Formats: sequence, structure tokens, C-alpha cells
Amino acid sequence: MGFKFYAPASLFLLLLSLPAFAYGWGVDGHAIICQIAQDRLSDPAAAAVEDLLPNYAKNNLSRLCSWADRVKFRYRWSSPLHYIDTPDGLCTYDYDRDCKDEDGVKGRCVSGGITNYTNQLLDYGNSSSESQYNLTEALLFLAHLMGDVHQPLHVGFTTDRGGNTINVRWYRRKSVLHHVWDDNIIETAEERFYNDNVEEFTEAIKQNITGEWSDQVAKWEKCSDNKVACPDVYASESIEAACDWAYKDVKNNTQLEDDYFLSRLPVVNLRLAECGVRLAATLNRIFG
Ligand SMILES: *[C@@H]1O[C@H](CO)[C@@H](O)[C@H](O)[C@H]1NC(C)=O
Ligand SMILES: *[C@@H]1O[C@H](CO)[C@@H](O)[C@H](O)[C@H]1NC(C)=O
Ligand SMILES: *[C@@H]1O[C@H](CO)[C@@H](O)[C@H](O)[C@H]1NC(C)=O
Ligand SMILES: *[C@@H]1O[C@H](CO)[C@@H](O)[C@H](O)[C@H]1NC(C)=O
Ligand SMILES: *[C@@H]1O[C@H](CO)[C@@H](O)[C@H](O)[C@H]1NC(C)=O
Ligand SMILES: *[C@@H]1O[C@H](CO)[C@@H](O)[C@H](O)[C@H]1NC(C)=O
Ligand SMILES: [Zn+2]
Repeated sequence: MGFKFYAPASLFLLLLSLPAFAYGWGVDGHAIICQIAQDRLSDPAAAAVEDLLPNYAKNNLSRLCSWADRVKFRYRWSSPLHYIDTPDGLCTYDYDRDCKDEDGVKGRCVSGGITNYTNQLLDYGNSSSESQYNLTEALLFLAHLMGDVHQPLHVGFTTDRGGNTINVRWYRRKSVLHHVWDDNIIETAEERFYNDNVEEFTEAIKQNITGEWSDQVAKWEKCSDNKVACPDVYASESIEAACDWAYKDVKNNTQLEDDYFLSRLPVVNLRLAECGVRLAATLNRIFG
């Protein structure tokens, strides 16, 4: 490649690699969740998903599972819908206290977003009215936000912005704690254990869903009080996991290596599994 291409190419790479604030699992984490979910859909839910997905991604929700991150700048209003800020050091989540955007507008957080898009999708197939909403977008938001609410640091402390302002080294490379949980743990797992292959990683999680974890799956799927979606339960689990695992023993400028990676990977595996199972269960309730 000639020198004259060097600058634009590297600028492009730089733009792609800019730290992603509050993006949720990286592309692979979201793709894994949506792939697990798609394979567990009931017939009516699978048919609705096929109908709502655009033609270029027919039958593959996982290809568009990061769509909501890509439109964050076009749809500026949507960016608070990806996370929840909780009070520093408390390790608890409370909808009335915490689900709001930076201007204090209630309901504008990832939990409110999940409820919003679940309610919109409940209109699907209602022949007496065309939904006033774009239900393709509702599906893509719901599939993505279910992932985000399961990423422990998407329900993190306010001052450090869910670990976005905590600088760390991931082995040799500079990173921030939030990005470690969005991407670095997953990428390192893929490199080390799964031939750099997201499908192999997904298969390994699916095997544990039908093996190791099979006796827990019914509990994961359940949503109390006959609710269709229960994001507040998942948000509470996330801030607990954030305190117990993500923030634990990490200070600004800590170097994170095998000790951290190997002890946290099981938590990431479990969150991805729970999330895939719950996304399917939620879609099955919506379209069922
Ligand atoms: C769906 O797309 C993803 C990402 O492009 C790919 O990894 C996966 O194999 C596809 N799944 C199917 C069933 O085609
Ligand atoms: C609900 O969805 C609509 C349509 O995308 C959007 O305009 C609104 O901001 C959303 N509100 C929440 C809390 O998600
Ligand atoms: C169908 O849409 C109509 C008009 O918006 C609404 O009154 C009705 O409750 C909807 N039915 C269902 C099952 O959502
Ligand atoms: C619904 O949203 C999708 C994704 O943004 C867009 O491609 C499509 O044109 C929209 N459909 C309508 C009817 O506006
Ligand atoms: C970490 O240190 C950097 C400077 O090295 C600073 O900008 C940042 O605010 C610090 N973060 C926290 C959480 O103290
Ligand atoms: C699956 O379960 C086995 C046995 O507990 C464990 O060693 C392995 O790391 C798990 N893999 C995933 C991807 O969860
Ligand atoms: Zn996100």
C-alpha cells in the first residue's frame, strides 16, 4: 500500500478504535447473545423476528444486534437508553432512584428502554391498528438493550461512568475498565480458547446452557408477576456483579492480567448465557 494511503487508513482505524463510552458488550458479546436467543425462539416468535428483520439480515438477528450502538449519534436521544448510573459505592439499583438520564428525566435508562420497546412490540400483529412505532427498530433496540443490562458495568457508579474513567492496562495494552468488560475479556477468551472464532465461543456457551447450567435455565427464563420483561431484576444483578467482580481489586492504572482474566471470564460466560436465554424467553412471551 502506497504512503499516500497511510494517513487516511490510519485515521479511519483511529476513529474505529476511539474509546467507546457506555457501548455495552462489544460487537461479539452482542452477537453471541442474539445468536443464543435466536436458536431458542418459539415458532411464532421466530416468524415475527423473520418478518421484522430487514431483508439483508433475514433470519439473523445476531448481524444487527449492535445496530443500536451504531445509531447512537444519529439518534442522540437514544444514548441514555444503554446504561444506568447508580450512586457511588452503594452496589444497589433502584428504578425510582436510578432510572433517569443526566437531565433527571425519569425512565430514560436501559431498564426504561427495555420496557418501552417490549410494549411497542406487543402491538405486533394487532390487525386493528398499525403501530405508530417502527417495530423493526423496536426489535433491534430490545435485542441490544437486553444485552447491555446484563453487562455488569452498564449498571455502574455515576462518577466513574461505569468504569469508563478508570484507566487500566489489559496485559500490555491501554484500556479502561468499562472496555475490559465490553470487549477485552471476550476477545482474549476467543484468542486463547476458541481459535479467534466467535461461533466456537457461542457453541461452548450453548453447550453449558444444555449441560452445566440446564437446571438453572427455567429460573432464568421466569419473570415474576406475569410480566413480559423484567429488566430491573437483571439490572440489580449487574450492579452486584460489578461490585463483586468488575470493580473489585481494581484501582486507577492497575494492570490486569491472568489473575483477573481467568477469575472474571466465568462471570462473563454466565451473563452472556443468562442474557441469551432471557432475550429468547422475552421474545417468546411478546409474540407468543
Ligand atoms: C449470523 O451472522 C453472524 C455475524 O455476521 C454470523 O457469525 C453467524 O454465523 C450468522 N448466523 C447464521 C445462522 O447465519
Ligand atoms: C421509546 O421509544 C420511542 C421510539 O423509538 C423513543 O422515541 C422514546 O425515546 C423511547 N423512550 C424510552 C424511555 O425508551
Ligand atoms: C390493538 O390496537 C388498538 C388500537 O390502538 C388498541 O386499542 C388495542 O388495545 C390493541 N390490542 C392489543 C391486543 O394490543
Ligand atoms: C424502520 O426502521 C428501519 C431501520 O432504521 C428502516 O430501515 C426502515 O425504513 C423503517 N421503516 C419504516 C416503515 O419507516
Ligand atoms: C484516573 O486517572 C486519570 C489520570 O491518570 C484521571 O483523568 C481519571 O479521572 C482517574 N480516574 C479515577 C476514577 O480516579
Ligand atoms: C462450561 O462449563 C465447564 C465446566 O464447568 C467450564 O470449564 C467451561 O469454562 C464452561 N464454558 C463456558 C463457555 O461457559
Ligand atoms: Zn449499547
